[in-house]
Amino acid sequence: MASLTIRKLDEAVKAYLRLRSAGNGRSVEEEVRVILGELIQGRPELPGGSVSSAEAPAQAPRPISASSARNVTLIIGGGIAAFKSLELIRRLKERHIDVRCVLTKAAQQFVTPLSASALSHERVYTDLFDPGSEFDAGHIRLARECDLIIVAPATADLMAKMAQGHADDLASAILLAADRPILLAPAMNPLMWNNAATRRNVLQLRRDGVQMIGPNAGEMAESNEAGVGRMSEAVEIAAAAVDILRPRQPRPLAGKRVLITAGPTHEPIDPVRYIANRSSGKQGFAIAAAAQAAGADVTLVSGPVELRDPAGVTVIRVESARDMLHRVQAALPADIAIFAAAVADWRVANEGEQKLKKTSAGMPPLQLVENPDILATISKLTDKRPPLVIGFAAETEHLIDNAKAKIARKGCDWIVANDVSPATGVMGGDRNTVHLLTRDDKDTGVDGIQVESWPVMTKEQVAAELVAKIAKSMEKNS
Ligand SMILES: Cc1cc2nc3c(=O)[nH]c(=O)nc-3n(C[C@H](O)[C@H](O)[C@H](O)COP(=O)(O)O)c2cc1C
Repeated sequence: MASLTIRKLDEAVKAYLRLRSAGNGRSVEEEVRVILGELIQGRPELPGGSVSSAEAPAQAPRPISASSARNVTLIIGGGIAAFKSLELIRRLKERHIDVRCVLTKAAQQFVTPLSASALSHERVYTDLFDPGSEFDAGHIRLARECDLIIVAPATADLMAKMAQGHADDLASAILLAADRPILLAPAMNPLMWNNAATRRNVLQLRRDGVQMIGPNAGEMAESNEAGVGRMSEAVEIAAAAVDILRPRQPRPLAGKRVLITAGPTHEPIDPVRYIANRSSGKQGFAIAAAAQAAGADVTLVSGPVELRDPAGVTVIRVESARDMLHRVQAALPADIAIFAAAVADWRVANEGEQKLKKTSAGMPPLQLVENPDILATISKLTDKRPPLVIGFAAETEHLIDNAKAKIARKGCDWIVANDVSPATGVMGGDRNTVHLLTRDDKDTGVDGIQVESWPVMTKEQVAAELVAKIAKSMEKNS
């Protein structure tokens, strides 16, 4: 068999081989072997499409074997944030995730296939009707020969197409043919994000099981506007991808609907002032994320907080206790309801329609009336009462006694009691020291309540522990 000395090849051929092998992360010798293999299989040396040879190092389709590394198909949409997706490629590769990029036609106005190809060390795909990759239905392979599909930036247009089931270009055809998890990183102008059509599409996509990260609040790159619409940072998207790709933990709450409340409520005094409390919502959000990770279908009704929506959770943002109750009632039925929100006990009865003014007559009289008691209302439902209702008791004194009285008074099944005295730093902090009070038999009085005291833990650990307890109880009662 004749041997081939690369050194003796024509300079132009060597330059081409060097470029192509570097792009594919192979040695020049290996690249030559691949080219010869392709020729022998009768495959075109450089598949066609709109990407030129220099931009698209050709590569045989990479089959996914059980032992292969994790693979992501990254669809880059046509938004200004597309430049961040180039960094995302690097971040994913740093995490040992192989990336194959698909660029929409509009995306190519913002970033070049050459950049995506050079960073991913893979051929970039742009065209649904590319004979080079469609001879064996390449769009189906791009949809299936991966462990996750990321769309970043997910434009308003791409989300609309997904929600409607369009398949008139490579990106939408892949998304429609996918049987893999899909993670969207939306990015758009705040007005586009808040448009009723986009809201409908986002809701539909969430219902279809599509996961989302962001968008974040901040300044828009293309205009002097600020608001919600910035694409999540590359590291955030990469972390979400790693989380999705992590070998699945047991999903003991699969098929269960979990309803959670979190955060404070804001009770208006007048159009600009309100009564609030120091709740950060961290514990409720952590429980929502843990329940979602355990496979539950989670709805989180949250008061005003500065936290990002946990991936895969349906988040409903509210202001007042009354809004919260309405949204909780609308979210029923649920198998498990966890009321972690610090709901204001009172609201102002005589809420000012205009901003209250300082007058010589002295302070305006503020009359307080009791707010609806969400925990008691849901615990005492006769028809739609969730089989497991869990309340939170934030106390500053007589913690256990007050929590025991609360469980009996409200009619819930469990209480998570925590000491929120300022010295504990629980309100707004990252750690929590809780006591879990349980009663399985709803007729038992205060004496039948079991108390389990947990050591100081992060709020995520408390959430994981609580979800594990819930899963065990569900298993016992099934
Ligand atoms: C300068 C510029 C910036 C744009 N940025 C965005 C954006 O951030 N998000 C978005 O949804 N659309 C944005 N668009 C509009 C999209 O490019 C347009 O809807 C396009 O059809 C999207 O195509 P694709 O979804 O197939 O990628 C932008 C358009 C221009 C001209």
